[in-house]
Amino acid sequence: MSSILKVNNMTKDFGGLRAIDSVSFHVGKGEFVGLIGPNGCGKTTTFNCISGLLDATEGDVEVFGEDATKLRPDQIQKLGLTRTFQHTLLWREMTTIENLLIPPRNQYGTDPIRGFFSNFFRGEEEARVRKAYSTLEELEITHMAHNLTSELSGGQSKLVDIGRALMGEPELLLLDEPVAGVAGPLAEKIFNNLRKIVSETKISILVIEHNMDFILRAGVDRIIVMDQGKVLMEGTPDEVKDSKEVIEAYLGGQ
Ligand SMILES: Nc1ncnc2c1ncn2[C@@H]1O[C@H](COP(=O)(O)OP(=O)(O)OP(=O)(O)O)[C@@H](O)[C@H]1O
Ligand SMILES: [Mg+2]
Repeated sequence: MSSILKVNNMTKDFGGLRAIDSVSFHVGKGEFVGLIGPNGCGKTTTFNCISGLLDATEGDVEVFGEDATKLRPDQIQKLGLTRTFQHTLLWREMTTIENLLIPPRNQYGTDPIRGFFSNFFRGEEEARVRKAYSTLEELEITHMAHNLTSELSGGQSKLVDIGRALMGEPELLLLDEPVAGVAGPLAEKIFNNLRKIVSETKISILVIEHNMDFILRAGVDRIIVMDQGKVLMEGTPDEVKDSKEVIEAYLGGQ
């Protein structure tokens, strides 16, 4: 399986605090991978360094075979990597469907020349609207298409956020706690949808979660366990569940 994301010995210091310490891992094409660890262990910082939001102090990142270490977030997104944020920020004064119609690239409305010939590009616009509705359907939130996102619950907002990320046509999706604060059954449904997306499309997913019990049952192919800025271990859910070091470090020996 070819690696589409390689993180090599990545370290990030904030002043005297080493938030991540020589972190290395990879994600293969077609994989659904969980990144897990206790609060403050460096999961979000890892995403921030991968996606170009922060410059790593040391180490490098390869995205789809390209050295992405020094690239800006928009350049990394152009390579095919899209990420979401731990704290979901939707455009609250817009409807769900409008939130989904903003991210697609190369829209003629943002280009004055293409905009002038807008009639020629009408077909593209219609295709985008169809895709937005089918994305909502996949996530089972079509009935909220015309609600302002300020009216949605936390769980519904998380689903819209995933839908918005999918509209950017990523090949690799990094999700930062997509089910934080979401009630159990909906959280399971979201992960079932993510599993389906990985199985049925060319999209691979790396997802941060902090609940060990949940991730062990969530249908991921592999789990990377972080603790205190380092990768403690990685393996299949069964391997992680049976790992003595994970039980000791992460579950406090229970
Ligand atoms: N911009 C920043 N400036 C200073 N310290 C930071 C910054 N971002 C993160 N940290 C620190 O780095 C460490 C790792 O934080 P990070 O947010 O990556 O953890 P996390 O694993 O995502 O935690 P959580 O599960 O709570 O989201 C923490 O000690 C945090 O306080
Ligand atoms: Mg975090």
